[in-house]
Amino acid sequence: MGFGGGKVILVGEHAVVHGVPAIAAGVRRGVTAIAQCAEEDSLHLEPWGRTFRPDASSDEPLARAFDRILSSYRDRPPLRLDVRVDLPPGAGLGCSAALGVSLLDAVDKALGVQRSRAALGAVALEWERFFHGAPSGIDNIASAMGGVLCFRQGSPVRRISPARALSLVVAHSGQPSNTKDMVALVSQQLAERPAWARRMLDEVHALVLDAEIALRHGEILALGRALDRNHRILRSLRLSTPRLEELCAAARSAGALGAKITGAGGGGCIVALAGDSDHAIRIADSLDAESFVEEVSSAA
Ligand code: MEV
Repeated sequence: MGFGGGKVILVGEHAVVHGVPAIAAGVRRGVTAIAQCAEEDSLHLEPWGRTFRPDASSDEPLARAFDRILSSYRDRPPLRLDVRVDLPPGAGLGCSAALGVSLLDAVDKALGVQRSRAALGAVALEWERFFHGAPSGIDNIASAMGGVLCFRQGSPVRRISPARALSLVVAHSGQPSNTKDMVALVSQQLAERPAWARRMLDEVHALVLDAEIALRHGEILALGRALDRNHRILRSLRLSTPRLEELCAAARSAGALGAKITGAGGGGCIVALAGDSDHAIRIADSLDAESFVEEVSSAA
């Protein structure tokens, strides 16, 4: 059995594609995969009841990505992969990365391949490229490693131990988010207004540093402010929607210490920081949206 977790980005999405660090937290929901020897290679995806065969020339990215993963193992028997996805796709929670990590993990275990979770996450970047064009790598690393991480392209990933547990509310706008399009929208703004867009990215960089200090010292009010400020920058970069604004405002009205888009934006989810777990449940109940509460442990 293999597992890839979902994630929320606390600070730094999009900027991380352009070399700025970002902080992600793994969530318990994710993707499980079981690999078994079979007559031929196949991938069965639930809850959609879809089946894929590996095919490098298919129009379907899943078939091509599956082919790439399997062809990275030499001298293997044909494998059947049964996968259960417990994350909404296109929601900014890292569904595609979690799928890739779970498949690699399941195949590794079936074939007796040993590698660390960090190495598993790094290999899963190949899979992510089939879905997002030029991913930074944060989703696949967060999916494989879980916990709270500071990720920067080209640098070793660092674990952050929060001084106190975080109570998060994740709420879905009900609108799909397309990571590739949103990443392209930011790149377009960098090309058209380079000085302004660079300033936005520099501000995000400063926020990531503030957020890491706040996490390490258990200063959740400061962390909440960093989330709000990051949201304002994401909104200036045209990554928000009226529905995402409404959800962030509603979470703040219910007492959230900060609320922001999480992931690519343009739809997908928001993440809100609560004072404690009871408060998180009250915020989630007050939102007119599909939501869940995530406790990010200080021991992770
Ligand atoms: C998506 O979860 C995060 C983005 O920054 C894209 C990436 O880092 O690959 C929007």
